[in-house]
Amino acid sequence: MPASTLANPALGFVDAPVDSGLDLYAEIERLKSAKNAILLAHYYQESAIQDLADFVGDSLGLAREAANTDAEIIVFAGVHFMAETAKILNPEKTVLLPDLNAGCSLADTCPPDKFEAFCEQHPDHTVITYVNSSAAVKALSDIICTSSSAAHIIEQLPEDEPILFAPDRNLGAYLIRETGRDMVLWDGVCIVHETFSERKLLRRSAEHPDAEILAHPECRDAVLQHADFVGSTSQIRRYARDNGPATFIVATEEGILHQMEKDNPGNTLIPAPPESGCNCSQCPHMRLNTIEKLYLCLEHEAPEITMEESVRQQALVPIQRMMEMSAGIK
Ligand code: 13P
Ligand code: SF4
Repeated sequence: MPASTLANPALGFVDAPVDSGLDLYAEIERLKSAKNAILLAHYYQESAIQDLADFVGDSLGLAREAANTDAEIIVFAGVHFMAETAKILNPEKTVLLPDLNAGCSLADTCPPDKFEAFCEQHPDHTVITYVNSSAAVKALSDIICTSSSAAHIIEQLPEDEPILFAPDRNLGAYLIRETGRDMVLWDGVCIVHETFSERKLLRRSAEHPDAEILAHPECRDAVLQHADFVGSTSQIRRYARDNGPATFIVATEEGILHQMEKDNPGNTLIPAPPESGCNCSQCPHMRLNTIEKLYLCLEHEAPEITMEESVRQQALVPIQRMMEMSAGIK
């Protein structure tokens, strides 16, 4: 049976029974080497998936890894826009995502037709788009950026160049403060980072007066203004590794704590509390990928990321600009 028929398009993942006696970890390792596949994972994946990955990183690190790999198959344990970016960079490779439903609430705030109309209202603006966006939105953009590279990219543009930034209004507002540039912003947010509560953060901080607050720039300004360090997931990880042993309150998706704990077991890591009663700050999209879906995806080589070649070519241009303009960024 061709692999593609196994991925019921309506489901978005391979729905087949998994033998409960199977050692999925050993099977995934076996399939990776038998198929010359690389497993790239984002920090927001469950710990077991991170432990199986050949590379765990932030959006920029993952895009770089995808661009440089010799593997024939890229299995992306992350969300759709990340796997799509890998496919844009590697049209000849098979790029798999364990569950195609693993989208991104932020990318969803920016439909391509409405974004095109927004860009047309600001025709003289350079369009800088956060990587958390669809291929169709990237295709309408001049430069793509990640949270790790955005400020560095903006600072390379002439000071009088008008900029439109999309889709994250919190990251956009942070970049305006950081770079001093007045940018037109698209009004999108991430459901995970938007929910961190300033009130509860301050209470947690009062309970741990020596703790440093580390935050992702997708958080609201009310949270970021209390942060000792603001950065991408990899940058937050590195900051804690290089500045420990110490206590850190971490305002981003809690999956990142897994690598941070391994890096420096002497650190005390406290997840920042969201506003809601539940104390979990997990991305519901990222967490759609499971070990079982990962195994089935590798076994059946499905579901696969595909896109129109014309969109891919248009989206590649601003992604390549990002790669060039991010050189030197860690
Ligand atoms: P990073 O590039 O910092 O890993 O961010 C990705 C993301 O989706 C944050 O919500
Ligand atoms: Fe998107 Fe937010 Fe999930 Fe990141 S954490 S993938 S921005 S929904």
